[in-house]
Amino acid sequence: MGSMTTTTHTDSALVRAARGIDTPHTPVWFMRQAGRSLPEYRELRAGIGMLDTIRRPDLVAEITLQPVRRHGVDAAILFSDIVVPVAAAGVDVDIVAGTGPVVAEPIRSAQDVAALRRLDPSDVSYVDEAVRLTTAELGDTPLIGFAGAPFTLASYLIEGGPSRTHAKTKALMYGDPDTWHALCARLAENALTFLRVQIGAGVAAVQLFDSWAGALSEADYRRYVLPHSTAVLTGLAEAGVPRIHFGVGTAELLGAMGEAGADVVGVDWRTPLDVATRRIGPDKAVQGNLDPTTLLAPWEVIEAEVRRILDQGRAAPGHIFNLGHGVLPEIDPTVLTRVTELVHTLSAR
Ligand code: CP3
Repeated sequence: MGSMTTTTHTDSALVRAARGIDTPHTPVWFMRQAGRSLPEYRELRAGIGMLDTIRRPDLVAEITLQPVRRHGVDAAILFSDIVVPVAAAGVDVDIVAGTGPVVAEPIRSAQDVAALRRLDPSDVSYVDEAVRLTTAELGDTPLIGFAGAPFTLASYLIEGGPSRTHAKTKALMYGDPDTWHALCARLAENALTFLRVQIGAGVAAVQLFDSWAGALSEADYRRYVLPHSTAVLTGLAEAGVPRIHFGVGTAELLGAMGEAGADVVGVDWRTPLDVATRRIGPDKAVQGNLDPTTLLAPWEVIEAEVRRILDQGRAAPGHIFNLGHGVLPEIDPTVLTRVTELVHTLSAR
């Protein structure tokens, strides 16, 4: 049973495109396809906290499947959050609706870092269980697992919540590089453990989210971040599943993000995919890159953008259609279904 499922996923459009192998159509999924854009999600989540939901495998499986049933996308993404392994390692963190992760006692010193525990797989046994339940229900549709990258997680931990400037994060990075590297090394180690649990339970691909890496210059990214993200991605080299490396505002970082060891580099809407491919190199697939706000535009505008992105994506050895960042809660989900159908129709070969 397990090996049959694995074979099916190796043949899936998602995994084939990630490996630069021809596909019957361009695979499509949407970051935050599960979530507040769906009325069935809002109904299911009513009265249950985000982290409590994530600790319930039955709810995780149901929420993860909702967008697959509704849109017919080529992949599911596990319903979880980047702060889950941080909370599981003992940090007092909550996910506040409309804000995001909020950390009660931000990490700003060497002692704080030393208190950040090494994650044990048993700390996230509910994720293992959720992946098993979800993959059993998904059948042929591949499940994408994920983790937050060291920089993006460090930013939440140091700032205590979301930040526009990442000022405290950069102050620690520049002012106390030893503590910075110790923090990122622990976050990388825990991300690796978290991803290995998901792979062991059956995810078909993984995505490393470095959503806020675009706050850095290329030189600082290479010096302070790349070694840690590389440790995560190359640590999975033998795991046999494609690795996607994603960030926002990363036009100047695309080459370096590819070097970290990903098979696929996620690209936001600011960089056309053919330009991105020149920066990343000819041996990696790309994922993206419709501007999420385009989904609020008239259909003619959306259709023209989808055509442009499919054309530009042909410059890469493989293309996974996605948004440049997540689905906004106010987006009409029927538009996402139409975009999925359009990508499938236009790319059929
Ligand atoms: O379909 C999916 O992508 C679902 C799985 C998923 C969630 N978070 C669920 C979620 C994934 C892949 C994430 C990753 C995540 N979490 C990232 C990286 C991706 C990105 O968007 O850049 C980041 C930065 C976080 C931290 C976080 N968690 C933020 C910024 C927020 C939004 C806060 C808000 O309310 O606007 C969250 C909460 C969160 N994570 C929600 C969901 C569906 C919304 C919570 C809710 O429904 O109340």
